[in-house]
Amino acid sequence: MGRLVIVSNRVPDPRERDQPAGGLAVALADALRDEESSLWFGWSGQQVDFEGDPEVAVDSHHKVTYATIPLTPAQHRGYYQRFSNGILWPLCHYRLGLMNYTKSDWESYQDVNTMFARALLPLLEPGDTIWIQDYHLFPLAQMLRDLGVTAPIGFFLHIPFPPWSLFRALPPADALLRDMVAYDLIGVQTDEDAENLKECLRIEGLDEGVSRVMACPIGIDPVKFGEEARAAWDGEEVARLRDSMHAEPLIIGVDRLDYSKGLEERFLGYERLLTRYPEHRGHVTYLQVAPVSRGEVEEYRLLRRQLDETIGRINGAFAEFDWTPIRYLTRPVPRTVLAGFYRLADVALVTPLRDGMNLVAKEYIAAQDPENPGALVLSHLAGAAPELTEALLVNPHDADAIADALHQALTMDKAARKRRWKLLDAEVRSTTAGTWSRDFLTALHDAGKAKTA
Ligand code: ADP
Ligand code: G6P
Repeated sequence: MGRLVIVSNRVPDPRERDQPAGGLAVALADALRDEESSLWFGWSGQQVDFEGDPEVAVDSHHKVTYATIPLTPAQHRGYYQRFSNGILWPLCHYRLGLMNYTKSDWESYQDVNTMFARALLPLLEPGDTIWIQDYHLFPLAQMLRDLGVTAPIGFFLHIPFPPWSLFRALPPADALLRDMVAYDLIGVQTDEDAENLKECLRIEGLDEGVSRVMACPIGIDPVKFGEEARAAWDGEEVARLRDSMHAEPLIIGVDRLDYSKGLEERFLGYERLLTRYPEHRGHVTYLQVAPVSRGEVEEYRLLRRQLDETIGRINGAFAEFDWTPIRYLTRPVPRTVLAGFYRLADVALVTPLRDGMNLVAKEYIAAQDPENPGALVLSHLAGAAPELTEALLVNPHDADAIADALHQALTMDKAARKRRWKLLDAEVRSTTAGTWSRDFLTALHDAGKAKTA
């Protein structure tokens, strides 16, 4: 077997014990552990002024070679902050009103994709299979093909793909869709995303692309994560959190600080719980871990301010001198510690307004004690919802529904929790990071064989 070449904007630093928050880096790191040899190419996370071609930094760690390039501050702004995160991200999360399009950002996006292609080209070897990840790099395959690359190239989109009625609002929608036909296989998270993308391709007259779209849901490594949760249980941080709870119930939320996660609506749902079910006042605590993400993008700055205000208001209104309803952290927590927090929590509150998959929901399930598992409250608009049907599914816009589901979760008897958890756990174990990458790469291999036959 040849090498697997992964290309993504975000590449974890192999020297850092902790991976950056975000599903892509977490799932790929889990998936790559099975590979014999692989190259992971992408942005170094650095902004550096340079002219001409960027310098490629190469580092090997375990069986993975990491090759990374910097971005100039102007590229970081145009390609990453603006086109990827100020245009494609809101569009793909059904938030047209937050999309701020300019032509110069589109040009910057294309230029950086061309730069990625040129920098990757000399690193490629015969027999490589290339797998490009996420919305930052939609046009990359076409640019590699233009440079003469004939290797199989697959793509995976970690975020939702919207229907044509929304996607057509993007001025270069047609150009992006045309470029996608350069892929031998395009993976998306859910059947709904696959149908949306196929519809767009069909309407653009790109029928040859339709058969290359595949729904291939991503997962975690549940065995490893379960072990981490058990190990964290005896650690100092979990002991401190446990002591601070005085045997009262804990609700946990863990998300990048992103408007797609429905944090504001979630806090209002929790407030509704305290209003409508006052028996929980003075007892339940909601711990929200929300590390700052994309803090230079205006919408994210505004969201942070809004959440500070909402949480301050709720805590001010409901707190007692010896009880705080919401504990809120905006810095990352090491994943090993997080795993133990999940295990301790009686309820996980995962209510994105839209989400490609949502690995937090799967991590929470994997971290539970089978003898006394917690309950999962999950948005029916998360990509994980079609799989995790035994969760308490809610509409994330409906504060009353969130309050009712939280009350149900907090009062559910152990037998009911165990019954639901067992079914959820079986689901999390059947679609893992390993099955995700194996299924996708097998289909990509088959697509390549069909092409040369
Ligand atoms: P997204 O990819 O949109 O961030 P996911 O739920 O799919 O959403 O993935 C988030 C990943 O980032 C999970 O693996 C989660 O454990 C990790 N993560 C989220 N918040 C934190 C945090 N505060 N500290 C460490 N890891 C985090
Ligand atoms: C989501 C995206 C990833 C991205 C991650 C973190 O999971 O699908 O592509 O890496 O968020 O965002 P960031 O902008 O910090 O890379």
